[in-house]
Amino acid sequence: MDKAQLDYASLPFGYQKTDMNVRYTWRNGEWDQGIETDSEQLPLHIAASCLHYGQAAFEGLKIYETQDGRTLSFRVEDNARRMQHSARQLSMQAPSVEIFVEAVERVVKANRRFIPPYGTGAALYIRPLLLGTGARIGVAPADEYLFLVLATPVGPYFKNGFTPTKLIVEDQLVRAAPGGVGTAKAGGNYAAGMRATVKARSNGYGEALYLDATKSYIDELGAANFFGITKDNKYVTPQSESILKSITNDSLRTLAKDLGYTIEQRPVHVDELFQFVETGACGTAAVITPVESITWGQETITYLADGQPGPHCTKLYKALTDIQFGVKEDPYGWTKEIVFD
Ligand code: PLP
Ligand code: COI
Repeated sequence: MDKAQLDYASLPFGYQKTDMNVRYTWRNGEWDQGIETDSEQLPLHIAASCLHYGQAAFEGLKIYETQDGRTLSFRVEDNARRMQHSARQLSMQAPSVEIFVEAVERVVKANRRFIPPYGTGAALYIRPLLLGTGARIGVAPADEYLFLVLATPVGPYFKNGFTPTKLIVEDQLVRAAPGGVGTAKAGGNYAAGMRATVKARSNGYGEALYLDATKSYIDELGAANFFGITKDNKYVTPQSESILKSITNDSLRTLAKDLGYTIEQRPVHVDELFQFVETGACGTAAVITPVESITWGQETITYLADGQPGPHCTKLYKALTDIQFGVKEDPYGWTKEIVFD
């Protein structure tokens, strides 16, 4: 099949129109069979609960093309289970794992020509979205839900991809707190962080690094988890009740262990930033983005003085992307081939 004519090697992390999206409706207690449509618009009731009361959650995953032209998904069932977690947090109905996986495969098949070619570094980004669509004026869960999955080819989330970015510790705004919805991929969490991201970017940083509600421990970035590497080869990443459980971070903990690192998932005090030899952001969109420096108040801690990724992030990045792009055998069963008819 001919690929869509795009400059895949230069794609930003942005929306690009593709051929089809897939939509399932939950009504009268069950999900329907779903439809494929080329429409980019949604007919929505003016009182839909997603609009007024934030019953909106999403997921993000990528589809990769291998050198020999196969198409691989990565840990889709984990995204499905996380959407179910988000839905519970927001009192929404969620699709079953089976419907979620089916929807992803349908949207990939319907947009096959947009799967970026191997070697461009780009991937087909899949964005599953769950919305309360039933009309509500009193605050209550909707009686109708839409599960929509769109696909769009993307390049790196942080400008220039696998090149170091600068972070700034956000010490004013608290994005999420224990007992809240920080563990959910709720749309509102991202709105809550936009002030900090806009401020960070306008001051020349790639992103803000959030602290926990006590402003003592590191939480995560707006769109990625955080990890640090110590000089004695420890992979340290925050354990927190107010962050998203990143599937990338989970994969990296497994791969880092294989590479001989000791894994520590525990509260990480902000003072520890001084002890790391390298730090990184990790997530589906971010993959691994090495951190050049972190500014915290008056202090700037520089990890990578020469603007190049460090050896630890490079090793981890390669271990992860070699599995995702099918370069290395996947001993964990994370990847699954999507077979076209
Ligand atoms: N944290 C936040 C707030 C995110 O938006 C994401 C992106 O999905 C992540 C972490 C990384 O999660 P994952 O590795 O599952 O993509
Ligand atoms: C992802 O990594 O898939 C995300 O969802 C991040 C997104 C908010 C840009």
